[in-house]
Amino acid sequence: MIRSIAIYAFVLALATAPDMDAVTKERLLKLGPLPAPPTDPTNRWSDDPKAAELGRWLFHEPRLSRNGEVSCATCHQPELGFADGRSLAKGLGTGSRHTQSLLNAAHQRWLTWDGRADSLWSQALHPFESPLEMGLSRGEVIERVRAIEPLRTRYESVFGALPAAEDTKGVQIAFGRVGKAIAAFERRLVTGPAPFDRWLEAVRAGRDAPIDGFGADAIRGAQLFVGKADCVRCHTGSLLSDGEFHLIGVPSKDGGLPTDRGRLDGVDRLRKDPYNAASPHSDDPNGARARWTAATQPDPETWGRFRTPSLRSAAASPPFMHQGQLASLEDVVRFYDTLEGATSLDHHSERVLEPLALSEQERSDLVAFLKGVHGTPPDRTVWNDPWPDRPPELVQKTGVGASPQAIPGP
Ligand code: HEC
Ligand code: HEC
Repeated sequence: MIRSIAIYAFVLALATAPDMDAVTKERLLKLGPLPAPPTDPTNRWSDDPKAAELGRWLFHEPRLSRNGEVSCATCHQPELGFADGRSLAKGLGTGSRHTQSLLNAAHQRWLTWDGRADSLWSQALHPFESPLEMGLSRGEVIERVRAIEPLRTRYESVFGALPAAEDTKGVQIAFGRVGKAIAAFERRLVTGPAPFDRWLEAVRAGRDAPIDGFGADAIRGAQLFVGKADCVRCHTGSLLSDGEFHLIGVPSKDGGLPTDRGRLDGVDRLRKDPYNAASPHSDDPNGARARWTAATQPDPETWGRFRTPSLRSAAASPPFMHQGQLASLEDVVRFYDTLEGATSLDHHSERVLEPLALSEQERSDLVAFLKGVHGTPPDRTVWNDPWPDRPPELVQKTGVGASPQAIPGP
């Protein structure tokens, strides 16, 4: 049966696409469309519309930061592909990594460049506590939610009464729920069909001619992507990411040897995270996500590895790579082509890449493909700031956060 389908597909391919062999076509058809994100049982409120609405308010609220000026949206700006256009992120201070796009993050098993979070909701808690990002303690976040009226009412309508400040255990739970509401919002930040998906649809129907937004150059780029350039080895599946960690040797930003331990530190932090999928805050502490986390082991081989980014949202959020080292898609393709300046870390290096020796035409074809896989961004009504003219004095009036305290560590 399978064999006859394969033969049929092969004959069909020959009949309709003299330029594209059946193997190439079969590989390409695995890359789209992108389905809805998988459910997340560790977050009971994952698909709760009221929680998502609260999440939108929390996401845009700068007073949930030490200086009252940094919100999630400061670094994840909707107009910049939910990133910030900078090489390195800047909140209360300047970080050491490039801000990732939030588009389609709900599809990822491991969050951030080093995968130190195993759910969207546990990830959303990290920036609040990071001294370089928002710089508040858990208790301070909850006190500010209480002080900022629309947040308080919305929180309580989803989760019930906020705990008293002295109720340490209740505060820990409430903090986790802040993350769960933000995650419900982030799940909506998914892209719709890309020109590539529309082209695949036509291919399925037996037509592989260029279409609007996905021209002959992008089609040649697609063939390179799954063929000679073998990008699909890591940028695989409909997300165009294997969700795993690799060291590809992009030269570090300052030109020196890389010092970021990447996945090696990520695993350490993941295992210690009090809000990980196996923790008591998880709504599914014995489920698949919890088991994946329990199975992670610190492994020196993973030194300096970073998660393969999804290419579904890449084109909208330059610069590229974990330090924003490369300014354009052209630069990225040139890097893979020549591997010029690639750092070799001897025993640590996966040594998975070889220079591709592409022609100029092939390089620009690959770039055309990378542009063609960018999906339609979500509608403005999904993500816009619900309260653009919030009164700035509100927090001071309640006295919350007015005292200059030492910034807590992450
Ligand atoms: C100072 C800038 C900054 C702020 C503020 C910030 N982020 Fe980020 N965000 C980053 C950076 C940088 C990364 C990559 C982190 C890393 O790998 O270490 C990131 C990564 C992420 C990711 C992972 C995406 C993926 O594909 O794995 C999510 C989700 C996210 N942030 C959500 C949020 C939320 C929610 C908030 C607010 C609570 C927030 N961020 C606040 C800079 C910021
Ligand atoms: C061995 C696995 C692997 C292969 C093969 C591979 N990539 Fe990547 N790709 C990665 C990883 C890992 C990163 C992030 C590296 C970093 O930040 O240090 C990345 C980053 C990128 C980025 C930047 C995305 C962003 O949002 O910053 C683009 C674009 C990209 N790759 C395209 C390609 C293309 C085109 C090819 C084929 C020529 C290719 N990749 C081959 C693993 C791979």
